[in-house]
Amino acid sequence: MSAKASFQPQVFGAEMRRQFDACYPEQARVLDHNMVSHELLTLDALARLGEVLPEKSIEYNPGDLPVGIKPEHVPSNGMTIGDTIRMIDRSASWAVLKNIEQMPEYEELLRSLLGEIRPILEAKTGKMLKPQGFIFVSSPDAVTPYHFDPEHNILLQLRGEKWMTTFPAGDARFAADEIHEGYHLGGHRNLVWREGFEAEGSRHHLTPGKAIFVPVMAPHHVKVGGESSISLSITWRSDWSFEEADARAFNGWLRKRGVTPRAPGRFPARNKAKALAWRVLRKLGMIG
Ligand SMILES: [Fe+2]
Repeated sequence: MSAKASFQPQVFGAEMRRQFDACYPEQARVLDHNMVSHELLTLDALARLGEVLPEKSIEYNPGDLPVGIKPEHVPSNGMTIGDTIRMIDRSASWAVLKNIEQMPEYEELLRSLLGEIRPILEAKTGKMLKPQGFIFVSSPDAVTPYHFDPEHNILLQLRGEKWMTTFPAGDARFAADEIHEGYHLGGHRNLVWREGFEAEGSRHHLTPGKAIFVPVMAPHHVKVGGESSISLSITWRSDWSFEEADARAFNGWLRKRGVTPRAPGRFPARNKAKALAWRVLRKLGMIG
């Protein structure tokens, strides 16, 4: 990883930018990208990255999990992260390398990619904040259980194929308000799965050259195809997303005190008042 990365300009072309502008920030959508290979994203480079990242930035486990498994029931795969990635074709595993921006060459890659779309997203959701990158390395047929994430996210498929099924963000049928509130007050991101949900999701097929935009807190689950998979997730927060998150936390605070709060509005609605209330409570140390 000491070699300087050679970046490919225009990973996102004009057509992708038009697609992204049309869907951001509320609609999940498959987008085109031009990053087919990169020296920082080979299996060997990723195995080395896994070995140098701090332990808290690495999560990996067997890949053949049921879609609705509870986080506390996920077992270990019994291997090191380096071996898990190098042998991903046959290690029957799922691994994520978190906050790759901790390493300067990966931070440069992340900033370069986000820089290509920054004007589009900032025009809608305000300043681009907290850029973070995640790399998913998965064995054939690996499953990522049903969950949601707090970031605006574009997942670029680099190797192998995936099917991601997404559900509307902010629809309480797929993630109850209490689950959102618990998450923003420190709970886990996995959600309660019900078999009846599947028919109501949107199923997206990802192959190398395709990416998907996933809205903030839109529930989803993922299944890898018959070959091992590498995906790069580039994420950011925004004025809008932090307000939504803080409004959820404030609602949780209210609910604990016997109030049944109204869910935050989704874009283009803002949640400034509740977010401000939460930030004041936090500053005053009254959030326990
Ligand atoms: Fe996710």
